[in-house]
Amino acid sequence: MVAGTRLDSQDPHYREGAACLQTGSGFFRVQSRPSRDLSVLLAAHQATRAEGPQHWLDLMAGCGIRGLRWGLESAPQSPHPLALWLNDADPERMDSLQANLKPLSGHAGVDLALSQQPAERLLRQAYLDQRRFDLIDLDAFGCPNGLLQSALAVLRFGGVLILASTDGRSPTGHDRVAAVRRFAAAARAHPSSWELALRLQLAALAREAWMLGRGLEPLACFSDGRTFRLAVRLHRRVGADEEGSLGLLARCEHCGDQAVQPVLKLSGWRACSCLSEVGRWAVSGPLWLGPLQSPALLQELLTLSEAMPHSLAPPSRRLLERLQADPGLPVCCWSTDELAQRLGLAGPPPLHRLVQALQGDGYWAGVSGVMAGQLRTDAPWKVLLQRCADLA
Ligand SMILES: C[S@@+](CC[C@H](N)C(=O)[O-])C[C@H]1O[C@@H](n2cnc3c(N)ncnc32)[C@H](O)[C@@H]1O
Ligand SMILES: [Zn+2]
Repeated sequence: MVAGTRLDSQDPHYREGAACLQTGSGFFRVQSRPSRDLSVLLAAHQATRAEGPQHWLDLMAGCGIRGLRWGLESAPQSPHPLALWLNDADPERMDSLQANLKPLSGHAGVDLALSQQPAERLLRQAYLDQRRFDLIDLDAFGCPNGLLQSALAVLRFGGVLILASTDGRSPTGHDRVAAVRRFAAAARAHPSSWELALRLQLAALAREAWMLGRGLEPLACFSDGRTFRLAVRLHRRVGADEEGSLGLLARCEHCGDQAVQPVLKLSGWRACSCLSEVGRWAVSGPLWLGPLQSPALLQELLTLSEAMPHSLAPPSRRLLERLQADPGLPVCCWSTDELAQRLGLAGPPPLHRLVQALQGDGYWAGVSGVMAGQLRTDAPWKVLLQRCADLA
């Protein structure tokens, strides 16, 4: 996979998109390129729909690669002046930020600011100073939930927050006590654990937006199992039935059946496929039961990328295409490995043929864009097992 390139093994420069910079000794992962490509495209997209000057904030900038790429790749899409603010709390980052961002100094239409502050302080001060941002990239270590309220409070209506969390343990059911603390939710082990983690994160975001009286729209959500990445848009008002997107997901630990309920319509759980005496629902949530992606926006980003030839690496393009094809509904996802295991098959059933068989039966079915080898469908578990057995 060609994520980006070092010019040669002796050269400390790293090239990605239109940027060429020194990543330095601080935290940097070449493998995070898809999230940076998405950030660059979202910035360019914000620029194309803007009606006035744009303010973009890279809150935890590291070596400054996102801000540099925004300036070099996204800014040319903006008909309006652009104010870029790059921040990192680590004092040792300042020299490399200054050196790496040199190509933007004197860049027409780009006003660059660099700072070295804890994100908590920067956001609260920005609120007091009545600054608002059209785009915030919050590429955090660990769980970012303590920053959500103050980040959303300085996001303009229609603004985009790009969020990362490296807290994989609590939302995937491996640290249930921490999940209660960080998400006020139950998180149980599940074959679609990355998707559940994204849904728990979306629920945390939605609650913070709703407490500000605002609405939230997921734009893109994905994970590599190590980092959980989300892009959301803040709306002036809570959408119609948006609160209906908060709910619980149950999975029987015995037979693997699943069921969902919105919090607004919460009642008892139906019997699972193994008929209540042995079945045992493990319930996760509250989590987000709405869509995970905005297929329309992702299509616009893919189209926009044609005018930005260096911005989207082939693996990032494939990721966006996968997400574009899977809005994230219905909620229940099933692993073909689990299906094979339960049916005693030698290997997983052919995913696309299984999806087609279910569609042929009149169910909604599609390949999951979030986890490989999984499908989502509204077909009952028993039908799913039967179709899988037929194919075998
Ligand atoms: C994941 S790295 C950022 C990587 C960068 N965005 C990229 O794409 O390469 C997180 C950065 O956040 C900084 N950081 C950690 N906690 C912070 C805080 N509370 N406020 C501001 N910066 C922080 C760290 O110094 C580190 O450089
Ligand atoms: Zn059961």
